[in-house]
Amino acid sequence: MTPRVLSGIQPSGNLHIGNYLGALGNWVKMQHDYESIFCIVDLHAITVYQKPEELRAKVREIAALFLAAGIDPQHSRIVVQSTVAAHSELAWLLTCVTPMGWLERMTQFKAKAAAQESVGDGLFQYPVLMAADILLYQANIVPVGEDQMQHLELARDIAQRFNSLYGETFTMPATRLPLVGARVMGLDDPTAKMSKSATGSGHAVALLDPPATIKKTIMRATTDSNPGVDFETMGPGVQNLLNIFQAFSDWTNDQMKAHFTGMRYGDLKKQVTEMTISKLEPIQKRYAEIVADPGYLEGIIRAGADAVRPTADATVRLVKERMGIYTETA
Ligand code: TYM
Repeated sequence: MTPRVLSGIQPSGNLHIGNYLGALGNWVKMQHDYESIFCIVDLHAITVYQKPEELRAKVREIAALFLAAGIDPQHSRIVVQSTVAAHSELAWLLTCVTPMGWLERMTQFKAKAAAQESVGDGLFQYPVLMAADILLYQANIVPVGEDQMQHLELARDIAQRFNSLYGETFTMPATRLPLVGARVMGLDDPTAKMSKSATGSGHAVALLDPPATIKKTIMRATTDSNPGVDFETMGPGVQNLLNIFQAFSDWTNDQMKAHFTGMRYGDLKKQVTEMTISKLEPIQKRYAEIVADPGYLEGIIRAGADAVRPTADATVRLVKERMGIYTETA
């Protein structure tokens, strides 16, 4: 059987080059080696308040960006999480085997909860829903950025616990990080991860930013007080710019060192800007074509859900049977 890949992105905020280098771009490269499912996880997005009309538009925007970035709809399934009810159903079944202590340890929960006045239960349950996304399809490989590693460990823990309580049911999913680009940092503050929710210009390069904005953001990026690139002593800002260049270009470490050692920061930034624009421009062009035909996009979203629903439903049926939940026998 061909191994299965599954991953997802939340339709909240603007997708940025961190999402692309850590996840989406990597999916595009690996999709044909596997049976691939890529989800737009709208049920995750509502764990913090989303304006309804914005959420509705975002789901379509992200689906279009998946296609524009090179997800092949003839091969890979693009699934809007909420359109396959089994995601929610399995999440509840798994909630019942997940100790609260495991969820209390999640660093993303702690960080997000600290930033909210009132913390919804959904934010707490978030990683269980993520485990459900993965286990529902018995995914073998989950390509994500570094910030999702703890959630994936939890998904494996939940799978293991379920298997030991009720018998072998779930495949253990492996985490797959990109070699470079697993953690792109904020351009304004290279000690913090580039994030969709962080506002303020200068922080992130969004995939749909026009070239002039990209240039402005990168040229203003935080560096350090060295006179030029020094691979031994560079600070996190310079390291981040080099990482971005390397992740886009696929250059080797040796190529990077030979080319950038000693380069002044103004020139480094110019080259990172040019590289970024050259990679994003074709995506933006395709994006404009795709959104001009909403019927096409709707068709792909519908076909994605229709294709995966039988697998998802079969898993829920099996899980219910294992747990002794009422299932029709005749
Ligand atoms: P989300 O929407 O926050 O991010 C989507 C993907 O982008 C990666 N990423 C980054 N990679 C490198 N540098 C960064 N600064 C950066 N920021 C984000 C993330 O690691 C992720 O791969 N919980 C998930 C969505 C999800 C999911 C799933 C993922 C729901 N169900 C099942 C995999 C499998 C999330 O919030 O990702």
